[in-house]
This record gives sequence, structure tokens and C-alpha cells, in this order.
Amino acid sequence: MANIDYKKCPQNDKFEFAFIGRSNVGKSSLINMLTNHKGLAKTSSQPGKTQKIIHFFINNSWYLVDLPGFGFAKISKTMRAEFSKMTKDYLLKRENLACVFLLIDSRIEPQKIDLEFMEWLGENRVPFVIVFTKTDKLKSLELPQKIEIYKKTLLETWETLPEIFITSAEKKIGTEELLDYIGKVMKIV
Ligand code: GTP
Ligand code: MG
Repeated sequence: MANIDYKKCPQNDKFEFAFIGRSNVGKSSLINMLTNHKGLAKTSSQPGKTQKIIHFFINNSWYLVDLPGFGFAKISKTMRAEFSKMTKDYLLKRENLACVFLLIDSRIEPQKIDLEFMEWLGENRVPFVIVFTKTDKLKSLELPQKIEIYKKTLLETWETLPEIFITSAEKKIGTEELLDYIGKVMKIV
């Protein structure tokens, strides 16, 4: 189910979990990993593949939502400018949105656009967690270092850290942790 307007999304009587992040970060790949469907969400090495709000109904009980990637248009630098109204509307107004999964490429240093996006989520009281992607591309010693750097950067503006997940769609790392977390949130929300 693909939509460009949050009002046209499926009935909002089930919890949903939205996946967002810079274009090419691996959102669609992660969704395929979680659902165990290789071709469910279309993946591509070309940025900007997902341009709609796409709902996947999981286990007859909750929705997983693939949102368009942000930050691939080189024209504007700040998140505010690049972040489309469609996604913003969705994040602010979708009542059954239980949690946003912000995907971050584990290989790169903290990016302004991601940090600004987190601030925006915080200001608007949208619950979120961080999901590091493509960890298979890092050497085993590099990964903890990168995460540490990220945490340090976050602690410059945040009092408490959000939940952090380590994943690799390539090596199928993190499925259980993410699904457990989703189950837990559905029980307490
Ligand atoms: P948009 O929809 O364009 O915003 O991209 P996306 O975030 O959905 O990324 P997508 O899942 O299409 O993946 C982008 C590229 O990264 C593809 O070439 C994937 O094969 C690759 N990729 C995604 N996840 C991983 C991973 O865990 N490990 C490795 N090595 N490559 C990955
Ligand atoms: Mg995608």
C-alpha cells in the first residue's frame, strides 16, 4: 500500500513503526530482513528509490512503514528544507505511530541532518530509536568505536540516550532485537 498523503494511509487502528533515514542508508533492506521477504520493499543502490509512505501489514497485527529517504537532494543543506511536508505531516499527525526507527549508516560520522532530525523529533515528542545499519562493512573493532563517538555527540545535546540497535541486512544481524523491541512497545503504549 503506497500513499503520498498520511490521510490516505490505512485505517489507524493498529500500531505502526516507521523507518526513516538518509537515502541509501538501508531502510528497505532492513524492512526486508525483518519481514524475511527479500523483495518486499524495493532496494536499490540508486538513492531516492522509496518516495511514498509504504505500509506493510505484519502478522495481522501491526504496520511497518517505509518512509522516503531524506538528504539525497544536494540543493538544500538543512533537514528542515529537505524534509518533505508529506513525511512531516505523517510523523506529526499519525496517531497510531508508536515509534520511529531512525536508521544511520554505522560507517559515517554523525551527520548534521540526522542530528537535526532527532532534535525535531524530540521537540515534537515523536518517540524514536537509533538503528545503525551496514555494520558488516566495519571491522569488529571499528564498530564499538563508531558507536561510542555517536553516543558522545548525542550527549552534547541529549540528557539521555535513545535506544540503540546494531544491524546488518547483509548478515541478518539485529532482527530478533528489533522485533522484540516492537513487541515490547506494543505492550506498553
Ligand atoms: P532509499 O529508498 O533510496 O532511500 O534507500 P534505502 O534506505 O531504502 O536503502 P536500500 O535498502 O535500498 O539499500 C541501499 C543500498 O545499500 C543497496 O545497494 C543495498 O544492497 C545496500 N545495503 C543495505 N543494507 C546493507 C547492509 O546491511 N550491508 C551492506 N553491505 N549493504 C547494505
Ligand atoms: Mg528504500
